[in-house]
Amino acid sequence: MDGVGGSDLEERARAVIPNGMYGHQSVAQMPPGTPQFFTKAEGTRLWDTEDRSYIDFMAAYGPNLLGYNHPQIEKAVRAQMALGDTMTGPGPVMVDLAEALVGMISHAEWAMFCKNGADATSMALVVARAHTGRRKILVARGAYHGAHLWNTPRPVGTVAEDRAHIQYFDYNDLNSLEDAVRMAGSDLAAVFAVPYRHDTYADQVELDPEYAHGVRRICDEHGALLIIDEIRAGFRLARDCSWDSVGAAPDLSCWGKVLGNGQPISALVGVDELRGAAGEIFVTGSFWFSAVPMAAAVETLRIIRESDYLEHLQDIGAYFRDALRGQAESHGFALRHSGPVTMPMILFEDDPGFAQVNHWCRIAMRNGVWLSPYHNMFINGAMTRGDIDEALNATDAAFADLKRNRAAL
Ligand SMILES: Cc1ncc(COP(=O)(O)O)c(C=O)c1O
Repeated sequence: MDGVGGSDLEERARAVIPNGMYGHQSVAQMPPGTPQFFTKAEGTRLWDTEDRSYIDFMAAYGPNLLGYNHPQIEKAVRAQMALGDTMTGPGPVMVDLAEALVGMISHAEWAMFCKNGADATSMALVVARAHTGRRKILVARGAYHGAHLWNTPRPVGTVAEDRAHIQYFDYNDLNSLEDAVRMAGSDLAAVFAVPYRHDTYADQVELDPEYAHGVRRICDEHGALLIIDEIRAGFRLARDCSWDSVGAAPDLSCWGKVLGNGQPISALVGVDELRGAAGEIFVTGSFWFSAVPMAAAVETLRIIRESDYLEHLQDIGAYFRDALRGQAESHGFALRHSGPVTMPMILFEDDPGFAQVNHWCRIAMRNGVWLSPYHNMFINGAMTRGDIDEALNATDAAFADLKRNRAAL
């Protein structure tokens, strides 16, 4: 992209890292020229290796809830760092953190900690099988629960047996779920659900509470566990588990991303009935008990409980959505802004190959705003209406550029 990306560092990366990068932080799916590396992040902003700054609507793909380098969280990190981090056993902070989660998430009566979202979803799967003695796990088609063998969206190097007992249904479609339940028969262990449908390259679909109640009922009728994967949307919709908030409490829920506002930590929490199974399985990792991320999480949860961060995210998100819609209309574009305002997905009408949204994001990025053309974005707590106004200048220029170049795309 005109002056952005293609740095010497990226050349060096290609020599020593396969494809120069891998996984969700590879910029391969982003507009051409998107920078791959960043030197720093502060509050709402990112800096690339050419020292260009961006107002960041990706929040590290979710973890940045309250702003990069949040002063209170960093203070807690430094205090714990001075005492000890990865030790021969966990610090007392592990119990503080478990108590905090149990106090905040209605269905939670115990908590276990790990590093990544995929650790937590895989642990949920194992607990469900251990508790029920059954094998089948139902997953919504297209839903992402992490890159472990049973769910990776790119199954190169896996074998069919890795997902032999995973069956699929369509999100928001109870008939489809019932068909999958019938196929699983008496071997059904659990149903995974996300707080609302947030697949990539697609409009987001907000949760229908009736659907949530239907899923809960079906699980109860068949003796199956309900697992909510809150990794991406956790604490961005509610201060509780989102399905608890609509009266469809799960048996297990998985948390990650925002938990330590960027520090590596994730969690599985569950109801009392599953305490036995959770205590029987063997799950661990060299860094799962590190105290610094736990201290960050205790402080992040305190801020979640005590501040108006959520109302702020909602206010900023609505302000961005409304202004963007007006701007698109004034340039003659129909925008599809879907999902909760705190986690917007932005696509264009009449853009089946995503060429328009790619171009728009590319020009906005050239003007200092980091937007994604294929993944939902995230409002963070450091954003002000002033940041949004600044971002809107960039999106305005991007709409104008798109209008001039649309025919050639
Ligand atoms: C809904 C959901 N579940 C699980 C994961 C996996 O989390 P992690 O990348 O931390 O393993 C993600 C990551 O994007 C996610 O969005």
